[in-house]
Amino acid sequence: MENYEDFFTENFETATIKGELVTLRGIHETAEGPGSAENIFNAIEGSREFLNEHLPWIQETDIFDLQKRIRSWVLNERFGQGGCWLIFKNTPENSDGLFAGAIMAEINLRNHSATLSYWLTKPFTGQGLMTESVRLISKFAFEKLKLNRLELLVSVHNGKSAAVAMRCGFVEEGINRDFELINGKFVDHRRFSLLARDVY
Ligand SMILES: CC(C)(COP(=O)(O)OP(=O)(O)OC[C@H]1O[C@@H](n2cnc3c(N)ncnc32)[C@H](O)[C@@H]1OP(=O)(O)O)[C@@H](O)C(=O)NCCC(=O)NCCS
Repeated sequence: MENYEDFFTENFETATIKGELVTLRGIHETAEGPGSAENIFNAIEGSREFLNEHLPWIQETDIFDLQKRIRSWVLNERFGQGGCWLIFKNTPENSDGLFAGAIMAEINLRNHSATLSYWLTKPFTGQGLMTESVRLISKFAFEKLKLNRLELLVSVHNGKSAAVAMRCGFVEEGINRDFELINGKFVDHRRFSLLARDVY
């Protein structure tokens, strides 16, 4: 392959990815309708208590903070440092689908790797939407971006998220001690990875 950085820069974009259950769409600062900051914020508001258990940033998130986060993901994409896709549940009644959550990839270009994170609002859990989203992003990361390693860090108290990782074939590597400060407590995280050679 030519220089990997050049290859990556040419190929990286948060293009729309369609699956059976979900459609993933890159986040846009200026989006209207279901992908707008207001809509995402309202969805977070409706699931705040649920999301707050494992996501430390939820507690202080108001609409302005959310707009800043969206802007920073848009910039990350522009600089090839990461991407955020909004997850829409496919439904025959609405061609846009229903907004369900988000999945993010922070890119480490030097090491050809990315760290994934994700969330769903409560009403959209229990339907396999995140399992499919992780599978779609993994395929995109390995096949389109030629990344070598995907990583997931999951609180030791977050069995549902660990189950997503394991369903998608991620291998548990060990514990990152006191990895994240969540609601005033340092929490150990289980580290999972999926390598290109695990899949191909
Ligand atoms: C982590 C999180 C995304 C997991 O959500 P989830 O709904 O359990 O995961 P999925 O969308 O993959 O759905 C899997 C569930 O749907 C069921 N399911 C139904 N149809 C399915 C299908 N076609 N494929 C896979 N699972 C399916 C599974 O049995 C499973 O249910 P179970 O846990 O009762 O066995 C969600 O709990 C969440 O957003 N939590 C808050 C934020 C968070 O913790 N983020 C992760 C930080 S590391």
